[in-house]
Amino acid sequence: MGMQTTFVMVKPDGVQRGLVGNIIQRFENKGLRLVALRQITPSLELAESHYAVHSERPFYSGLIEFITSGPVVAMAWTGVDAISVARNIIGPTNGREAAPGTIRGDFAMDIGHNIIHGSDGEDTAAFELGLWFPEGVIEWTRDAESQIYE
Ligand code: RTP
Ligand code: MG
Repeated sequence: MGMQTTFVMVKPDGVQRGLVGNIIQRFENKGLRLVALRQITPSLELAESHYAVHSERPFYSGLIEFITSGPVVAMAWTGVDAISVARNIIGPTNGREAAPGTIRGDFAMDIGHNIIHGSDGEDTAAFELGLWFPEGVIEWTRDAESQIYE
């Protein structure tokens, strides 16, 4: 158990369907802390780097075409065990098999259009955060009381 930062990305289908706000709300509600946020239409180069691990898989070309098809919302979230916590919020890859209450369980019907990505381990998270946020993330802590009263 320890503090981690994970990379999460709302894919083009999630952006097109207007789910960005609902998705961010779930991560905030859970208690994770947002430390980076960026909307971008991924270049071919960025998409190929991100999914390099899948380059030999039969679905790879379709996956690259999909992820470069429009804007995505890239985020970094920090918290204790943030990587597995985020994966649990997201749910399993196939939306038809994902439990209700997870993002994919609530919004996805297809393995290829599954709304959102989350890093699957510490090495992957470090690689993906460096790839999507080369300038680094925002260092801040929560202090709501001091924002309510002057
Ligand atoms: P992600 O990386 O996007 O968070 O998803 P994941 O860990 O649950 O799934 P992964 O095995 O890493 O696969 C990456 C993405 O490739 C697409 N995919 N399509 N047609 C297929 O059989 C197939 N398998 C995987 C999915 O969009 C998956 O999220
Ligand atoms: Mg994955």
